Amino acid sequence: MKPTLFFSMSHNAQAIAAAPALMPWTDSLQTGDARMDETHQEFVTMINQILATPEDQQLPLYKAFLNHTVEHFAQEERWMLATGFSADNCHAEHHATILETMRVVEAHYLDSDNTIITRMAEALAEWFPGHANSMDAGLAAHLKSVGFDSVTETLADPTAIKNVTMSGCGSVSCS
Ligand SMILES: [Fe+2]
Ligand SMILES: [Fe+2]
Repeated sequence: MKPTLFFSMSHNAQAIAAAPALMPWTDSLQTGDARMDETHQEFVTMINQILATPEDQQLPLYKAFLNHTVEHFAQEERWMLATGFSADNCHAEHHATILETMRVVEAHYLDSDNTIITRMAEALAEWFPGHANSMDAGLAAHLKSVGFDSVTETLADPTAIKNVTMSGCGSVSCS
């Protein structure tokens, strides 16, 4: 199942050039894992920095945001692997789809679509709460249930992880 991302690569010439709305950080975005939430706050801050920046100056911020998102997703996938998920679980597949789109956006921006980074940041601001509240919160609950410390990346009891791998998203569905 693909992640829901309300984003189109095609540039809409009719788009109204209104100032994009910033994305607030709210308690509803918290997942229950402080380390994960810290990374998520950085994610939200970077989206807002991009949206507050003139489009012709967004590329360095976008590159930094893309690198941050690579690390953000890799961190969660490392935790999944350490706690019994298979590498091809659906949460990781959602991450891969988002990163693929983000990389194409950089190429389109360089190819003279100067509003595409703003459109992508807006689409990610719309996508992120659903992802944080489902897959990420589900992962946080799973980490807690198996005694995984996301700061030290260690398990209180490694035998708690069964020698089977999970391809789903743990406590949430993959839809
Ligand atoms: Fe996340
Ligand atoms: Fe995630």
